[in-house]
Amino acid sequence: MEKVQKRLISSYVMAFVSVLFGWLHVMFAVLVVGGGFFNLFLLLPVLRTLDPQTAGQISLNVAKKFTILVWVSIAGLLATGLVRVALDSSFERAFGFDNPYGVTMNIKVILFIAIIVHAFLITRTGRKIPTASSPEERALLQQRIFRFSLINTILAFVVIFLAVGLRYGGSVF
Ligand code: HEM
Repeated sequence: MEKVQKRLISSYVMAFVSVLFGWLHVMFAVLVVGGGFFNLFLLLPVLRTLDPQTAGQISLNVAKKFTILVWVSIAGLLATGLVRVALDSSFERAFGFDNPYGVTMNIKVILFIAIIVHAFLITRTGRKIPTASSPEERALLQQRIFRFSLINTILAFVVIFLAVGLRYGGSVF
């Protein structure tokens, strides 16, 4: 009887830990993808209506804080994603090319790597803005950041589509 009770408690704990990590994983995605969308489609159009000096100051301060959120979320998504695989499935199934779940997961991971590469390019380009030699160079760098951010937002939307597909066994194609 005691053994049955212990097994029951441990299965409740495991279920709770799974939900907790699932929640953390989704929260990182919500915060970083929502934040990126906000910057591109709400903040940026408003900044374009302000005088360039004020707009530049605001965007620099926002970018500094948002960069921290991006890198914390990338680390968080990777860590919680791997924990979810370990808790809910086997690594062979989750990353195998011989089943729909594994194929979808591998495409998701490849897109995630592309997001990391673009996040790195955004961070590197952003560091050059304060020392830009002319307003034209600054505008060029900002345009580059806009393009990389747009690419990352689109990639993240596709990743979320694939993530929802995983819930249904990965049969999304
Ligand atoms: C190496 C990186 C990643 C791994 C290993 C990973 C792993 C996972 C796993 C195992 C699930 C649960 C799937 C299921 O229900 O069977 C999941 C769900 C999810 N992932 Fe990821 N993930 C990663 C990156 C990302 C990224 C970059 C995003 C967003 C930009 C993301 C967004 C989501 C969302 C929103 C869900 C919930 C989908 C749902 O329950 O309907 N993941 N992920």
